[in-house]
Amino acid sequence: MKQRAILLLVTAASVAASLSAQASGALPDGEGKKELQKVCGNCHPVEQVVASRRTAKGWDLSIEEMVARGAKGTDDELDKIAAYLTTNFGKLNVNTATGPEMEKALGLSEKEAQAILAYRERNGKIKDFEQLKKVPGVSAEKLQEKRGWIAFDR
Ligand code: HEC
Repeated sequence: MKQRAILLLVTAASVAASLSAQASGALPDGEGKKELQKVCGNCHPVEQVVASRRTAKGWDLSIEEMVARGAKGTDDELDKIAAYLTTNFGKLNVNTATGPEMEKALGLSEKEAQAILAYRERNGKIKDFEQLKKVPGVSAEKLQEKRGWIAFDR
């Protein structure tokens, strides 16, 4: 009896926590949000969908996988969902990104973005964040700030 009461309390607390995450804007407004809620909210909460960031390619693959699992949307809806997820929950692959993409997504200067391109050309693929931080001429602080946005493949 006592245990059950505790369980109920815990459940209530986690529901409250997820509601407050919603209220605090876990899902930013923007084109595609409506479609995401409609197409992707049936089998699992959309909060679970956006729990981790992905590259544009990663989101495309994930949407394809969900369609194979039974998600139903028009091409237009799926395109809007992909754009919404990439804009708000995106990641940038620093091994394939262009200079301007890195400037925009990671807040780097043109010079810093060019330094990463040059490093890539000389050394090949950047393996991980530790290696990225060692690229000469790039602010490690700026990279640290955007760490969650950075991907090394896909
Ligand atoms: C027909 C049911 C269904 C619909 C609709 C659906 N999903 Fe899923 N989704 C699943 C299932 C089942 C899982 C759990 C897969 C697993 O654990 O391997 C999942 C898991 C996920 C994950 C987590 C995968 C991971 O590896 O972490 C993401 C991201 C995701 N879905 C995105 C979406 C998106 C985006 C949409 C809308 C386009 C969507 N889902 C619509 C069934 C669905």
